[in-house]
Amino acid sequence: MYNPLLHKQLNELLDKSSIAIASNDRGFYTRFIANIYSIEAIYLQLYGNHKTGKESFIPLLTTIIQAYKLRSEALKKRDNSKTHDWFLSNEIVGMSLYVDRFAGSLQDMPSRLAYLEELGVNFLHLMPLFQSPANESDGGYAVSNFRVIDAKFGTIEQLQNLQKTLQEKGMYLMLDIVLNHTSQQHEWAMAAKAGDKHFQDFYYCYDDRNLPNAFEATMPEIFPESAPGSFTYNHEMQKWVMTVFHNYQWDLNFTNPAVLIAMLDTIYFYANLGVDILRIDAPAFIWKQLGTACQNLPEAHQLLRLIKLCVEIATPGMALLGEAIVAPKEIMKYFGTGAFTAKECDVAYNATHMALQWDALATGNVMVMLAAQQDILQKPLGTTWITYTRCHDDIGLGYEDSMISNAGFNAYEHRMFLKEYYAGTYPNSPATGALFGVNPKTQDARISGTLASLCGLEKALLKNDSLATQLAIKKVLLMQAHSIFLGGIPMLFYGDEVGYTNDYSYLQDGGKSYDNRWMHRPIIDWDKQAKRLVAGSVEQQVFTATKQLLTLRKALPAIADKKNIEWLHPHNIHVAGYKRSSESQTIFCLYNFNGSPAFLTWYAFKEKYAGVTTLFDHYSKTNYTVGRDDEFFILDGYGFYILEVLIN
Ligand code: GLC
Repeated sequence: MYNPLLHKQLNELLDKSSIAIASNDRGFYTRFIANIYSIEAIYLQLYGNHKTGKESFIPLLTTIIQAYKLRSEALKKRDNSKTHDWFLSNEIVGMSLYVDRFAGSLQDMPSRLAYLEELGVNFLHLMPLFQSPANESDGGYAVSNFRVIDAKFGTIEQLQNLQKTLQEKGMYLMLDIVLNHTSQQHEWAMAAKAGDKHFQDFYYCYDDRNLPNAFEATMPEIFPESAPGSFTYNHEMQKWVMTVFHNYQWDLNFTNPAVLIAMLDTIYFYANLGVDILRIDAPAFIWKQLGTACQNLPEAHQLLRLIKLCVEIATPGMALLGEAIVAPKEIMKYFGTGAFTAKECDVAYNATHMALQWDALATGNVMVMLAAQQDILQKPLGTTWITYTRCHDDIGLGYEDSMISNAGFNAYEHRMFLKEYYAGTYPNSPATGALFGVNPKTQDARISGTLASLCGLEKALLKNDSLATQLAIKKVLLMQAHSIFLGGIPMLFYGDEVGYTNDYSYLQDGGKSYDNRWMHRPIIDWDKQAKRLVAGSVEQQVFTATKQLLTLRKALPAIADKKNIEWLHPHNIHVAGYKRSSESQTIFCLYNFNGSPAFLTWYAFKEKYAGVTTLFDHYSKTNYTVGRDDEFFILDGYGFYILEVLIN
């Protein structure tokens, strides 16, 4: 309903900031008016009862106006040139990388762009670049200054130059905002330690163990081995502080509106650096409430919606990715629910499917993958996934036990098998990985290891076994292809494009040795990368095929993520198949997760496309004539097919 007081307040603020509502800044004004009621409503729900809630509302509006005023003309132009759903395109292909481990520094990055372009990557996720203490950094996710680039990477000017170069090349940039916590060396934490009450209120600080004990009774542990519990005693403050992740990562207290405003301002700082997609780190954790798991709470969603509304007003070209690695049903809620459907995070990781691919690869059976699709397919139109096989984190088998039992397996034994298989301890397992975050109380564990090592390349190379090497390469490509055509932005993890195996040098570094995720975060050796040009080398085989898959993706409009995926019925338990369709084409993508040839009845195609007669495999450039229902399409062991329906 129209609220004259709110409009008066807003107009006064806009006038004071010389916003030209009738001319140059009209779009901004329109967006503000369109969103201000929702902003006020959500804000009051979250902060209406806080002691500084009412007085903090105007500073929130001022932060939005300031962000817009600071936005460069070039970025405003870029905002206008993007459609609201630009990220659904099949032409976007991402890679996630550590600037220091990939290129050396920010200054060296531009000279490496040609390599990425050669591969077909046009969207970069640069792993955290902002100041983070060397020995307690969590790979940059413990930030001590949100606005100063860590000296080991370079300077903010170099980042800005890189962004400009990317923009000129038509490439996109993603950076992280670590919203949930700061390093204990951030100036806010330092002030809190020095006794500043204002900054102690930025965190969850308690004099004794009463509330920490009560919280911990229902909070799962995130790093049970390296950082058990969720609170750490700080001797300087003589208080217990909430530290859900490592003990040096202090959880921000978003029930305090001052924290919201400070972090929104940081979000805008990144937006105005030219970030195209902002990766909101660990959003599931941003709201805590006694007696709950302190994850996925409704208020966390409210906060994200509020952030989305604010971003849409001042910096609309920046999309939001919620890094929620949680249960499948919970992940879906980060796209928004109810009236906010498709109005919260634009993008989320398809972590469920990523883990399901690993499930299918180990078992050779796709039934659990299929059992999970009903949930995954609930993603609303207008939002998209990051699809991936590996990232910098561990692989969590986060899907529900019911999905495993619906597929006919015993959930406990099934999970046990997967962990042993990828840790390489299961008899004859080809994989070389390690368990991460083993929780002795719950038996829970996740998996570390590079794509290639988990697919068997490390063992094969060690044994000099050329057959096993070829098999491992096939598995790597099967895994990549499956996620590249699935729907969403494929995000390669650097090194995987040439088959890096595990790097154990992290064990020699005291700041990393407690965290085996470093085994799959390689330091790029450009001589190895150069082998992509040596015919027959592992690097050449993996790179060339990956590049071919990316080129293919960009050429097939049906692969754009328009809620246009349909799964084939399980005619063969080894074969995962999905149909992707657009107005102009229909593609069947088929994957045999088993080592032996698989037979798929031609009826599987006819069932999904009446009258289909001819299929063209874009990968092998082969034509297939569709046969009778009692005849079969035969898939090679670990083979995959990108089959377009040809209309005669
Ligand atoms: C995210 C990051 C992970 C980090 C954690 C804590 O999950 O991906 O690497 O350890 O957040 O910031």
